[in-house]
Amino acid sequence: MAASKVLLVGAGGREHAIGAALARSEAAVYVAAPSVNPGLKRLSRGYRNLSVEDGDAIAQWARQLGVSLAVLGPDAAVAAGVADRLRAGEIPTVGPGAAAARIESSKSFARALMRQHSIPGLPRTAEAKSPAELESAIGVVGEPFVVKPSWLTAGKGVWVQGADFKTRDEGLAYARSLLEEGKGQPVVLEEKLEGEEFSLMAFVDGSSVHPMPVVQDYKRALEGDQGGNTGGMGSYSARDALLPFLSSSDFETATDILSKTVAAMKSGGLDYRGVLYGGFMATAHGVSVLEFNARFGDPESLNVLTLFDGTDFDELMAGVAAGRVQSVHLRFRKRATVVKYLVPPGYGSKPVTGGALRVSPRLGDEEGVTLYYGSVTPGQRQDEVVMGTSRSLALVGEASALKDAYARVEEAVRHVHGEFYLRHDVGSPVDLLRHQEHLRTLRGLGPKLQEPNLTRSGSQPPHAFS
Ligand code: AMP
Ligand code: GLY
Repeated sequence: MAASKVLLVGAGGREHAIGAALARSEAAVYVAAPSVNPGLKRLSRGYRNLSVEDGDAIAQWARQLGVSLAVLGPDAAVAAGVADRLRAGEIPTVGPGAAAARIESSKSFARALMRQHSIPGLPRTAEAKSPAELESAIGVVGEPFVVKPSWLTAGKGVWVQGADFKTRDEGLAYARSLLEEGKGQPVVLEEKLEGEEFSLMAFVDGSSVHPMPVVQDYKRALEGDQGGNTGGMGSYSARDALLPFLSSSDFETATDILSKTVAAMKSGGLDYRGVLYGGFMATAHGVSVLEFNARFGDPESLNVLTLFDGTDFDELMAGVAAGRVQSVHLRFRKRATVVKYLVPPGYGSKPVTGGALRVSPRLGDEEGVTLYYGSVTPGQRQDEVVMGTSRSLALVGEASALKDAYARVEEAVRHVHGEFYLRHDVGSPVDLLRHQEHLRTLRGLGPKLQEPNLTRSGSQPPHAFS
């Protein structure tokens, strides 16, 4: 196939990983984003300063370039209906239109869809459109509970009782403040679920659902899961495409939920072509849905796209956009990964921006380590970048065993100089044991005190990876 020409929208770590996978397939990559990501800049053939929500300008540039494909990275682009503008200009696009993107941009829509179509995994949930409705909503969900704005908040708006607030009154006060801010949009209350979270992303071509390796994201800003919710500080995936605490049956349930969700949307006339991300909780009683996202996760996409094996990622993406994914393109290396984001000091509350980070060229000599640029701009020197308000640089370690992937990232961090914060506990052997014991205890299996077999080489891989 002749080299394809692809327009990529967005300029964070996720988009750098998407761009790198496209560049490996020798696609000519063009980037539309409001800031210059030095990594994307290097690999792209053209870069235009455009808002990721400006569908008309993006579609116009796509037509001028004559691209054969557009790929949307950020939730803001997807929610704003950029895919609708591109498709109106006959540009095949990875990313659902605004109506289907409500699966992410409206938690109220997502929960209603699950209820109407009896999709499994729905927690007790109720929405309130006014302060008066909050009392009855809390009557439905009980305590402890979780407060969620129905709209997009970059992963930062959800408050969980016991972590972000203590008493029922504090939770209700937060919900009232959201109602004021939301200008007519509802607030969703939910029962607080106890368990282990996992992210399952799938390529969706309108009908069929093709899962990627499962990832666990660390959402809290600080080590030991302290601090506020963030977009994600780091994440890991295991060699068998499951996670050390997850059973094949949990994976199958989650995949089934994604399939039923796509079918439910299809029955309502919504043709979903893009990546569907399920944020799940493995609990004592099975698998529950925390949220859906209508795009690749960040950092989760860094785990899986680093593992994408082959030089035909552009063809896989073209299949998603055209409505026919071919399983021959779905190949992920059977390796473990650990991703760590280096963030500005104070990220999660008051980030200190403008600091410089220097990346030693020796990083490039480290085996099994990949660097992706996030919210940074080029610095004064070739090896320097300047931190913005969000996550700055991502390091990915890849190895056969999780503990080695972890060691590789920790080693690689030494090659970055400057003032930054990162969570050393992401993917550490002690932390993986903690997650595994937590779920075993909840499921009445008793804690397993010996070191888990983190490669799980004896277990059955999910079908898509065999
Ligand atoms: P969401 O944006 O809905 O995924 O929520 C962000 C984070 O809040 C999740 O990753 C969980 O850590 C937490 N969370 C959301 N919903 C619940 C729930 N029902 N029970 C417990 N924690 C939750
Ligand atoms: N890491 C969570 C997200 O991408 O929304």
